[in-house]
Amino acid sequence: MLKLGIIGTGAISHEFIKAAQLSGGYQLAAVYSRTLTAAERFVKAYEKVALYTDMVEFLSADLDVAYIASPNSLHFSHAKVAILARKHVIVEKPAVSLPAEWAELVKLAAEHQVYVFEAARNYHEEAFATIREFLRDKTVWGASFTYAKYSSKMQALLEGQEPNVFSAKFSGGALMDLGVYTLYAAIGLFGRPEKALYTAQQLPNTVDLNGAGSLIYPDFQVRIQAGKNLNSQLPAEIYTDQGTLTLDGIEFISSAIFQRLDGQEEVLPIEQAAHPMLEESQAFAGVLENGEDRTYADWQQATAAVHDCLFAMRREAGIRFEVDDD
Ligand SMILES: NC(=O)c1ccc[n+]([C@@H]2O[C@H](COP(=O)([O-])OP(=O)(O)OC[C@H]3O[C@@H](n4cnc5c(N)ncnc54)[C@H](OP(=O)(O)O)[C@@H]3O)[C@@H](O)[C@H]2O)c1
Repeated sequence: MLKLGIIGTGAISHEFIKAAQLSGGYQLAAVYSRTLTAAERFVKAYEKVALYTDMVEFLSADLDVAYIASPNSLHFSHAKVAILARKHVIVEKPAVSLPAEWAELVKLAAEHQVYVFEAARNYHEEAFATIREFLRDKTVWGASFTYAKYSSKMQALLEGQEPNVFSAKFSGGALMDLGVYTLYAAIGLFGRPEKALYTAQQLPNTVDLNGAGSLIYPDFQVRIQAGKNLNSQLPAEIYTDQGTLTLDGIEFISSAIFQRLDGQEEVLPIEQAAHPMLEESQAFAGVLENGEDRTYADWQQATAAVHDCLFAMRREAGIRFEVDDD
């Protein structure tokens, strides 16, 4: 059993704990929060969990792995101190604000003999392995991936507040929050693109409310859409020389249907997991327990490619974060 520590007491941390417990591989051991009140409120649902408001003390606790779900721009410093304390790290997406931060975390993790993972939950879905296998004898001619969901923080934004997810200080916006899933889908299926483009509808602080872009591969292009001020029901499509594969989305996929050029349909054997974060928690536990270094190296490269794309796309759209000025 991996002893799990939590940084950040938002709703997603409860979800990760649920998935981690479902996997049977983790035991919740400690929670860090900036305030005791938030920590106490958070652990009401659990038993025998140590609470900390001091990061150094939290990282000195008997923990194997720290799950980090703080606002985006704090991931890097939180992951860094955890690695320096020789804890494995699972850091929520987007793991970092800048590609150089990811490179530093990977280097530090290797030096301190721990693993660092980005919690890119769709990348670890078994559905993508099934789809990759299905595409093996086909020539890909393009794809279209969308993830757009009206944010629960839109009301606050419209009332003049600046929620973390829309702030330049915390590296927010549609591309970082939801576009990252479309990039993981593309890079997981097709590898690193040659070029990444993006234009967006932006707030005065330059952070994007929604946007569209392209990932350019040598022989095809992937259209990307992300949004936080709108809902999209668009399915995902992958176009091939033999027909079109339609997915019900690019995360927590439950259906994949291939329509051949002659109209015949084939349903792929996709089985949705019991929880959207279950497969990633199982995957991380697998590497932590078995040290599958080749798998880990592939993940590191995928994460590096995703963050190179995010950075290039932000630059193209003119999305600037506070961390860019440092
Ligand atoms: N994988 C998924 O499906 C999924 C879903 C949602 C979110 N996420 C990711 O999870 C992360 C957290 O998202 P969220 O919406 O929960 O963020 P959030 O509400 O802005 O912050 C999460 C937690 O971080 C701490 N925090 C907030 N503001 C802080 C500040 N100024 N300084 C230091 N700590 C602060 C708070 O915990 P304390 O008060 O206890 O310190 C808070 O509960 C993001 O990276 C997001 O992308 C992932």
